[in-house]
Amino acid sequence: MNQFGDSLVVEKLESLFKEDINFFYKKNIRKKKLLNRIKVEHIFLIPSYIFKRTYRLTPDILKDLLFGLSVIHKSPSSKLVSQTKYDLIRTLVDIKVSSLSLKSFPKKVQDDIEDTFVSGYHSLHLSNLSEIDELIDSVINYSNPSHAGARPYFKDGKNKKIEGSFSAYYSFSKKDNHKINKIIRKVLSKDFDYHLSALAGYRCKLEDMSYSLSIVCGENSNSEMHQDTFASVAKGFIYLQDVGEGNSPFEYLEGSYIDATFRSKQTNKAVQDGDFFSSGSTRLRDNILEKAINKYELKSFTGSKGLFVLANTAGYHRKGSHDSAKPRIILACGVKRKGIITKLFINLFSILKYKSSLFNIS
Ligand SMILES: [Fe+2]
Repeated sequence: MNQFGDSLVVEKLESLFKEDINFFYKKNIRKKKLLNRIKVEHIFLIPSYIFKRTYRLTPDILKDLLFGLSVIHKSPSSKLVSQTKYDLIRTLVDIKVSSLSLKSFPKKVQDDIEDTFVSGYHSLHLSNLSEIDELIDSVINYSNPSHAGARPYFKDGKNKKIEGSFSAYYSFSKKDNHKINKIIRKVLSKDFDYHLSALAGYRCKLEDMSYSLSIVCGENSNSEMHQDTFASVAKGFIYLQDVGEGNSPFEYLEGSYIDATFRSKQTNKAVQDGDFFSSGSTRLRDNILEKAINKYELKSFTGSKGLFVLANTAGYHRKGSHDSAKPRIILACGVKRKGIITKLFINLFSILKYKSSLFNIS
């Protein structure tokens, strides 16, 4: 492993994929007994578990009433609510609340970060990340792969298996996430945190990111243009190979996040049409997709190894087409999704902190 450009581990994964694809399907990590797996920190996951469970069991109309500001409630549950301005209003509120994060940034960077907020993405290039190779090599041994939302079906609104679709996401351990962030931090300035916060809709930093190794080939449910949810979400994609057209480049409709009218209209339509295979993440298809591509600029992030694309995936995006036999291998990353109320509190606190720091200096 000399430099990032000569990643032997990525070459190794490419050959493994070519020789024995079953290697990636094997669930050969022996799980420890339940009691041995439980850690004290898991206690903090209980409220979130209860919240999700309650959400699932709540009747549709009540979901709309009780969970409207929560990021878990991706689209209206009831057709009745989808005929109102409910989704439009909460989308507008999310945009307003998320934009508050910009007010806690130093004046000199505000214009630049506002561009990121409006366009919905930020990209940069990372060089010499060979230190990560070792962590990539180990994650495939200790983590069981999942499809992580890149399902090999549900494309074009059909619950049909997509031929030749492959996706495996290996989540890094907490310790390794910490190591990756330390490595990346060495080459990133503080400005990165501002861009990340603008896209997540709340003040956060690189160190809040968690990662997974993503290996995909062919088409999957992410090949359709979609929004992840109505409220801002920051996701990142670090290319570990050169990615050209036909190698699943990340694609994004610039400026679509801030168009609440268009997004809520599509979401309401999907609910009314009973498009259940979207799992709440509205898909754009046929002439609506064509119109959207004409309305916004379609950014296709082709680029060399080390390209790091950050995006607010409440804006429309997709995995670009894949017509190569070689899998696309990237580090997928993101920060936690937060509901509107939590984002509001974090942003107000950050503004207060920023203003008081100015006061202290003067
Ligand atoms: Fe997505």
